[in-house]
Amino acid sequence: MRWAALLGNPIGHTLSPLIHNEAFHQVGMEGVYIPIQVEDGYLEEVLTGLCFMENLLGFNITIPFKEMAVRFMDMSSEEVKLIGAINTVKRGEKKLIGFNTDWSGFLRALDEEWGEDLEGRRAMVMGGGGAARAVIYALNTRDVGEITVALRSWIKGERLKEEMSWAPISLVLFHKAEIEDALGDVDLLINATPLGLHNEPMPFSLERMKRNAFVMDLVYNPPVTPLIMEARSMGISSCNGLTMLLYQALEAFEIWTGHKVDPMPIKAKLLAQVGELKA
Ligand SMILES: NC(=O)c1ccc[n+]([C@@H]2O[C@H](COP(=O)([O-])OP(=O)(O)OC[C@H]3O[C@@H](n4cnc5c(N)ncnc54)[C@H](OP(=O)(O)O)[C@@H]3O)[C@@H](O)[C@H]2O)c1
Repeated sequence: MRWAALLGNPIGHTLSPLIHNEAFHQVGMEGVYIPIQVEDGYLEEVLTGLCFMENLLGFNITIPFKEMAVRFMDMSSEEVKLIGAINTVKRGEKKLIGFNTDWSGFLRALDEEWGEDLEGRRAMVMGGGGAARAVIYALNTRDVGEITVALRSWIKGERLKEEMSWAPISLVLFHKAEIEDALGDVDLLINATPLGLHNEPMPFSLERMKRNAFVMDLVYNPPVTPLIMEARSMGISSCNGLTMLLYQALEAFEIWTGHKVDPMPIKAKLLAQVGELKA
């Protein structure tokens, strides 16, 4: 029996076990995927132990460990070095190898849900954590014209801009007036903050957005966040983070096992499950 895992804190209602256990089933592998809640301050100890578990394929890393995990890897992909965050680890011969599939999962989801050419477009990314960094990297691979990043801390914003100086980043503070001023030029708005997880509304209005723009909320539970609800009420197309969740997971599964998985049967199960979680 092989196994894989998710490390995070909290891990609450994660849908990752559903995806990976279905994937094991689909490819006919005897395997299991389990969530592991890691006590804050003990990531290094847990990683050291996992490194020596011979039937472990690898694991995912989620909040709050994506950025701090980078320094505990024996090797990392080029994307990890540029993004500065890991969401997937493959266990090699007593080695941990870090990958990031958030960026490619995001792009594949955006292509499926929106399908527009991104070159020269203007994007706004809310938040500057691990997910936002993966989104910025992804958008830059498609030659997006400008990426406005909205953050609560100017100091963190300047640091992000310096660390990702290869991307066309401009900064705004996470304030109603500043965001609304910038929104009029935006073709694509991405929420990479946890706002919406508990139905919190965004502290700004989408009134000034172009009606042919697109909104993507990385939050997927609840499936219709206040941001998505507002976009819909204004006739702006939108999607939540469920498709990204699926694709980042299946790319991780392929890194661990070498198997490609048909996403559609798993997507149907995810949609049913999210409906149940919401109720
Ligand atoms: N759909 C998917 O596949 C997928 C994948 C990855 C992540 N996500 C989701 O994306 C979100 C962010 O994840 P992450 O890993 O990037 O988390 P993170 O590293 O903790 O970053 C969160 C970011 O959001 C900002 N933020 C937090 N609360 C805020 C608030 N009330 N107002 C404004 N900004 C706020 C934080 O700012 P400060 O630094 O000022 O605290 C930080 O910049 C989570 O909801 C996560 O579930 C979804």
